[in-house]
Amino acid sequence: MITTLIWRSEADAKHSANRLAPEPALQNAFIELRGDLGAGKTTFTRHLLRALGVTGPIKSPSYTVVEPYETPAGLRVWHFDFYRFRDPREWEDAGLRDLFTAQGLKIAEWPEHAAGVLPRADLVLELTVKATGAREVGIMAGSAAGSRLLHALVT
Ligand SMILES: Nc1ncnc2c1ncn2[C@@H]1O[C@H](COP(=O)(O)OP(=O)(O)OP(=O)(O)O)[C@@H](O)[C@H]1O
Ligand SMILES: [Mg+2]
Repeated sequence: MITTLIWRSEADAKHSANRLAPEPALQNAFIELRGDLGAGKTTFTRHLLRALGVTGPIKSPSYTVVEPYETPAGLRVWHFDFYRFRDPREWEDAGLRDLFTAQGLKIAEWPEHAAGVLPRADLVLELTVKATGAREVGIMAGSAAGSRLLHALVT
């Protein structure tokens, strides 16, 4: 089942990030962010990290594949961008598999490019840019934890 939200502006994306941040289910979750180049995946992640209290620079991991963070509350967060991910050997060699088994929040842009190696997502947000510039957000839960996150987003 797909639930849909509309982000009319970045402020709405920030609002969604603020809804998610206090959820206990976020402490050990995998969130996939799907959508075209420029859809708003990094922007949403940035708002979520800020909502979690991260204050330093937040860079797009498009060249590094992953950027690690730790929130003031001690939650570890890994922001992945698999856009340039081509070689599944990197999954083992760069220790990416280990990050996905560690306790913390994993957020991935371009999960389609690592579909063969990624675990099932707890939550999938699929962003589509409308003609007005608004973002349509399709939300799918892949687990009980994901359902709690979905509920936090839509209520
Ligand atoms: N929710 C939003 N509403 C309106 N504009 C937005 C929104 N989110 C992002 N934008 C605009 O779109 C631009 C691109 O967003 P962003 O870099 O987050 O896209 P992305 O999905 O991460 O792209 P890529 O696939 O290249 O990594 C931002 O600089 C911002 O101006
Ligand atoms: Mg991005």
